[in-house]
Amino acid sequence: MDENRRLRLGVNIDHVATIRNARGGDHPDPLRAAQVAAAAGADGITAHLREDRRHIGDRDIARLREEIELPLNFEMAATAEMVSIAVRHRPHAACIVPERREERTTEGGIDAAGRLDQLRPTVDALAEAGIRVSLFIEPDVRQLEAAVALGAPVVELHTGRYCEAYASGPDAFGAELRRLKEATTTGAELGLEVHAGHGLSFDTVAGVARLPEIRELNIGHFLIGEAIFGGLADAVRTMRDLMDRARAGVGA
Ligand code: PXP
Repeated sequence: MDENRRLRLGVNIDHVATIRNARGGDHPDPLRAAQVAAAAGADGITAHLREDRRHIGDRDIARLREEIELPLNFEMAATAEMVSIAVRHRPHAACIVPERREERTTEGGIDAAGRLDQLRPTVDALAEAGIRVSLFIEPDVRQLEAAVALGAPVVELHTGRYCEAYASGPDAFGAELRRLKEATTTGAELGLEVHAGHGLSFDTVAGVARLPEIRELNIGHFLIGEAIFGGLADAVRTMRDLMDRARAGVGA
């Protein structure tokens, strides 16, 4: 497939570390998951080093950089500690996410529009280190404009509301997909590279995969959950196939 049309798949391996940490040992190893995902068609590996280290740890990031050839998308909060870790490891990309200790997962996008001054030093420091900066935002024009104002080349649109709407039926799901579609078109017009992710599953991936301006999807929880039943390689292959078919217009 033409490189400009191919939709990249970043596999988020955080929850392999969640399971490992439940027993405090070495198994299952997130690095092995990254290797399996790579062999099954992933284009990148995503890992979120949270401030509380609840899943991925510092050593995982070091090993991912040393031993995995796929580009690493390092998800991080905009803190001095995370900036210094990112600058030390120089991942291919850093995605700035909001982080609250009490949340179960990253529940919404970062308010870039409301935190311009606070985010600017983080974006600048990462860019200076040659790291491609992405902002995890809601599909909202104010947030897209804020990404431009900050000089971030990439945005990742939070697909949480879209995925939650799936259970509410086609009207609600369609409305959320339109919101994503408008944001991807606007983002591309503003010169941003647009990615998307959060909560995507076999049921919800095709709608976003069909949006031509989206260049990358980052998917974790569903793939790791699905791996329990059919193995990680199969889960990644099936997701890859659903993305490619949607992109090629099959079943549209
Ligand atoms: N993208 C970003 C920026 C994330 O923070 C996460 C995980 O919260 C994901 C994608 C993957 O989401 P999920 O694990 O629900 O697929």
